[in-house]
Amino acid sequence: MGVIIMDFFIQSRQRRLRRNEAIRALVQESFIREADLILPLFIIEGDSIRQEIPSMPGVFRLSINEALSVVNEAMLLGIRSFALFPCIDSSLKDADGSEAMNSNNLICRAVREIKRRYSDAFIICDVALDPYTTHGHDGVLGVDGDVDNDATIEILANQALILANSGCDAVAPSDMMDGRIGYIRTVLDSSGFENTIIIAYAAKYASSFYGAFRDAVGSKSLLGIADKKTYQMNPANSIEALREVASDVAEGADIVLIKPGLHYLDIILQTKLEFDVPVFAYHVSGEYSMLKFAEEKGVLDYNKAIMETMLCFKRAGASGIFTYAAIDVARIIRGLV
Ligand code: PBG
Repeated sequence: MGVIIMDFFIQSRQRRLRRNEAIRALVQESFIREADLILPLFIIEGDSIRQEIPSMPGVFRLSINEALSVVNEAMLLGIRSFALFPCIDSSLKDADGSEAMNSNNLICRAVREIKRRYSDAFIICDVALDPYTTHGHDGVLGVDGDVDNDATIEILANQALILANSGCDAVAPSDMMDGRIGYIRTVLDSSGFENTIIIAYAAKYASSFYGAFRDAVGSKSLLGIADKKTYQMNPANSIEALREVASDVAEGADIVLIKPGLHYLDIILQTKLEFDVPVFAYHVSGEYSMLKFAEEKGVLDYNKAIMETMLCFKRAGASGIFTYAAIDVARIIRGLV
């Protein structure tokens, strides 16, 4: 029994609602489900290839047949959504990223194969040129050496059309050019793809957490010391993020994505509060790898840390979450690990 001090009493005992597992569960506000997860897949040419990416433990570049078995495994765990990224042979890269315009390129073939076998898998294709260019930028360069906005959006709309035509459910422009959402929407609609969803990377920051992804798609060494600061956002800004979201929504984005995720939870929340569109988060490569490497060093319990991370995305207001940990998360939810 505590000592009663007459002129002081604790008015609110919030610990009452934390006393055991049952009451904690009853008052839980956010949840993560397998259906919230989007698994990014790196696709590479060839047969039966599973190439681990050294900077992303547990993540592989997969040939199409291997990708099919990962899709199968994920779907059995309740994951229904996949985002495809290509790692193409360097001989196919050029300054204009023209392989992106090949309707029989690696990603188009991957989409067709996956949809043929798993018609209810939800397939998202990235719209940007960086996996296809010799300079590693998301668009084509103008005479000043900077990415040429208007020339790029014309190419991106063509890329989006080719992807839609290969049967993907959604296109996700990750390039941060101005006006691309409206342009892509118009081109898709005028070609009979009015039902193709646009997930706009609305607020995408020039982040240092993308390095491992650039390794995975083979654009890092091509980009070299260059950065993407003339199109991706300054991490210091949030008002600008809301302007970016507003223009993408006005131009017809169905869903807006905030990227990276973890360090930008405030942007997710503000977007959720201000706009009536679903907000997705991208738990990017560096954010994923940090946890994997921290686990290897014995710094933390990966399973607990990844579940906490997912719940925090949900608490901030994200519906879908792109994460390389999707299969790990689904296994944890199902009590398999
Ligand atoms: C490029 C693209 C990037 C990512 C997704 N699409 C990298 C970049 O902008 O350089 C990063 C994803 C990740 O780090 O997991 N269009």
